[in-house]
Amino acid sequence: MSKQILVTGGTGYIGSHTVVELQKEGFDVVIVDNLSNSRIEVLDNIEKITGIRPAFEQFDLAERDKTDAFFQKYPNIEAIIHFAAHKAVGESVGKPLMYYRNNLVSLMNLLECMKKYDVANMVFSSSCTVYGQPATLPVTESTPRQEAESPYGNTKAICEDIMRDFCKATDSLNCIALRYFNPIGAHESGLIGEFPVGIPNNLVPFITQTAAGLRDELKIFGDDYNTADGTAIRDYINVVDLSKAHVVAINRLLNNKNKKNYEYFNVGTGNGYSVMQLVKTFIEVTGVQLKYQVVERRTGDIEKIYADTSIANNELGWHAEKSLEETLATAWNWEKNVRNID
Ligand code: UFG
Repeated sequence: MSKQILVTGGTGYIGSHTVVELQKEGFDVVIVDNLSNSRIEVLDNIEKITGIRPAFEQFDLAERDKTDAFFQKYPNIEAIIHFAAHKAVGESVGKPLMYYRNNLVSLMNLLECMKKYDVANMVFSSSCTVYGQPATLPVTESTPRQEAESPYGNTKAICEDIMRDFCKATDSLNCIALRYFNPIGAHESGLIGEFPVGIPNNLVPFITQTAAGLRDELKIFGDDYNTADGTAIRDYINVVDLSKAHVVAINRLLNNKNKKNYEYFNVGTGNGYSVMQLVKTFIEVTGVQLKYQVVERRTGDIEKIYADTSIANNELGWHAEKSLEETLATAWNWEKNVRNID
C-alpha cells in the first residue's frame, strides 16, 4: 500500500508542486488547506497533471479541535510536509500577532497531534531569511542565524526552535527543516504556478504580471548595492527542483536515513543572480519587452545571499537541475496560461 503523506498548504505555490512530485513517486497525498491564499481549482489542475486527485480537507490548522478530528479521520498518515503559513513579509510588520498566532500555533498543534496520533516524521518549510545578511557568502548550514528583519522571518526562526526543542524532548519524532532560497517558476505543464493575491511582492510574479500588461512597470529596488551592477543578489531556485527536495527529505525520514532527529538543510542552487541579470534574462528568454525603472531600495532588503548547497547535495543526494533560463520560461508560460495570452 502506498504511504500516506499529509501536505498542509498543499493548494499553495510550493505545496501544489510538491503534491505533484509526491504523487509521481507513488505517495498517497492528503491536503489540508484553509484556502486563505490559494484556490480550490488547483486540485483539478493537480489531477490533470498526475491523473490522481488528492484527498482534500479545508480547515485552519490553528484550530486544535479540527486538527485532532483530522488525525482521527486519517489514522494512516506516515509523514507531514508543513507548508501552511502566512508568508507576506510586509503584511507581517503591520499584523505581527496574526503571523505569530497562525504560524506558531498551527505548527504546535501539528506537533502535539504527531505525538498523540503516532506520526513520526515532518518536513518543515523554513527560509534563508533566518540568516539575515550573512557576513560571508555562500551561506552554509553553520552560518549563524541572525535576528529576523520581520515578524514573518521571526516565525520561521521560532518554528525551527520549536521543532528542535520538541525533537530533543521526543525521541520518536523526526523533523527536517528546509531553508529555501528564492523559489521561482512554475510546473512545465503551465497548469500550476504562483498565484499571488493582489499586487505581488516578489520579483518574478511582478515581472510576469508586468509583461502580461497587468502592471505598468517593474520597479527595481536600488542599484547602489555593493554588487557588480549595483542591484541585489539572490539564489533563485526552480519550484519543481525545490519540490523534489521535499520528496528526498520525506524518503530520508521514512527510511530512517536521518543522522539526528532534527536536521536542517539549505535548498538553493548555489548561484547568485542580480535583479538586473534576472530581468535581462527574462527579456532574452521570452522576447517580451518589459518596462522597468530603478527606484529607492526597499526597506528590510538584504544586499546579497546565495547558498552553499554542498550538504544538501552530499547528504541528501539532491541537486538543483533547472537553469534560470528554463525556469523563467516556465514562469512566463504559467502567466500566459492564467491570462489567456497566446
Ligand atoms: N525586487 C524588485 N522589485 C520588485 C520586487 C522585488 O527589485 O518589485 C527585488 C528585491 O528588492 C530583491 C529581489 O528582487 O532584491 C528579490 O525580492 P523578492 O521579494 O522576490 O524576494 P526576497 O528575497 O525579498 O524574499 C525572500 C522570500 C521571503 C523571505 C525573504 C527574506 O520570498 O519569503 O526572502 O528576506 F522572507
